[in-house]
Parts: sequence; structure tokens; C-alpha cells
Amino acid sequence: MKKILIAAVSKNNIIGKDGKVPWHSEEELQFFKKNTIGFPVIMGRKTWESLGKPLQGRLNIVVTSNQEYSSPYHEVVFFFSLQQALKFCVTSVYEKIFIIGGGEIYKQIISDADEMIISEMNFETEGDVYFPEIDGTKWVLDSNELFTDFTVHHYIRKPDY
Ligand SMILES: NC(=O)c1ccc[n+]([C@@H]2O[C@H](COP(=O)([O-])OP(=O)(O)OC[C@H]3O[C@@H](n4cnc5c(N)ncnc54)[C@H](OP(=O)(O)O)[C@@H]3O)[C@@H](O)[C@H]2O)c1
Repeated sequence: MKKILIAAVSKNNIIGKDGKVPWHSEEELQFFKKNTIGFPVIMGRKTWESLGKPLQGRLNIVVTSNQEYSSPYHEVVFFFSLQQALKFCVTSVYEKIFIIGGGEIYKQIISDADEMIISEMNFETEGDVYFPEIDGTKWVLDSNELFTDFTVHHYIRKPDY
């Protein structure tokens, strides 16, 4: 099972501000949907709260340390550690899963992910949550794809790492 990190990042590495994504790009949202539809998505509790409802057509997996956390929605499951969430996915039938943020979750998974799909937006912005540094010794930039609002960088982990 491949663990794929997917994120949209501004030119100055911002991913969030005041609990939200500080831009709106329909084109980028469609790109995100096209990639993730049909596969489980793992996210932190703060990202879950910013969404407000499950992403349709995907198993929503939320990580929180609060064992009493619950939701009225059926498409969401909660795990109390990232390791538990990943273990659950390994035993599932899915060939890939997507790690969709936010900053705390990206930081913990970046050394363990197999691939990264990073939408680099065409602008800088202000914010309070950053994407972690990409260690060029561990990742190969496999391809770039140009869109109107952003460029997608597809990274693959170097075999030795
Ligand atoms: N641009 C993008 O692609 C993108 C994508 C996603 C999110 N975002 C933005 O990023 C921001 C949110 O990021 P964030 O870093 O503040 O929060 P986050 O990563 O979404 O969630 C953090 C929370 O996840 C839980 N958590 C994290 N690691 C855990 C672990 N190992 N075990 C158990 N629980 C764990 C904790 O919840 P508890 O406190 O409940 O224990 C923690 O407070 C928002 O602004 C959001 O809009 C941007």
C-alpha cells in the first residue's frame, strides 16, 4: 500500500491560516478530488474540523488524541494515533492512501511517505501553518504539471530512503 502525501502550498510554503486554507482555487480542489476519490484520506483533527463534513466518495480517517471525539457521519473513522491509522490502512484492500494534512500530520509522515503530490500555488500569502521542509537528498522530483493557478510537483522517495 502506497502512502501518498498530497498538499497545496503557497510559494512561501504556507498551507493554512486561522484554521483554513487561505485561498480558493476551484481548479486545485478539482485536482485534489480527481486524485483522491475512491481512496482513504488521513487527516488531523484540526483539518477535519476545518472541512466540517466528510469528503464524499472517500473513507475519511481522522487522527486525534481525544478518545471521546465522535461524529454523526458514517464515512469517518477516528484513530488515536497516526500509527494506528496507518496500521488499519495496511490491513485494508486499498492499493494507496492519501495523507491530506494538516501541518502536524505532514510533519510526522514526510519521512515515511512513498510519494508526494504538491500543488505549488502561483503566489505567496500570509498564514500560520507551514509545509515541512522537503529534504532533497531523500526525494526525486519525478514530474511537473502546469495548471493555471498552480504547478504540481510529483516526488518519489529515493530507493535507499
Ligand atoms: N493547503 C493544504 O493542502 C492543507 C491541507 C490540510 C490542511 N490545511 C490547513 O492546515 C491547518 C491545520 O493544520 P494543523 O497542523 O494546525 O493541524 P492538523 O495537522 O490538521 O491537526 C492536528 C491535530 O491532529 C491530531 N494529531 C496530530 N498528530 C497526532 C498523533 N500522532 N496522534 C493523535 N492525534 C494526532 C491532534 O488532535 P487533538 O488535538 O484532537 O489530539 C492535533 O491537534 C488548517 O489551516 C488547514 O486548513 C491545508
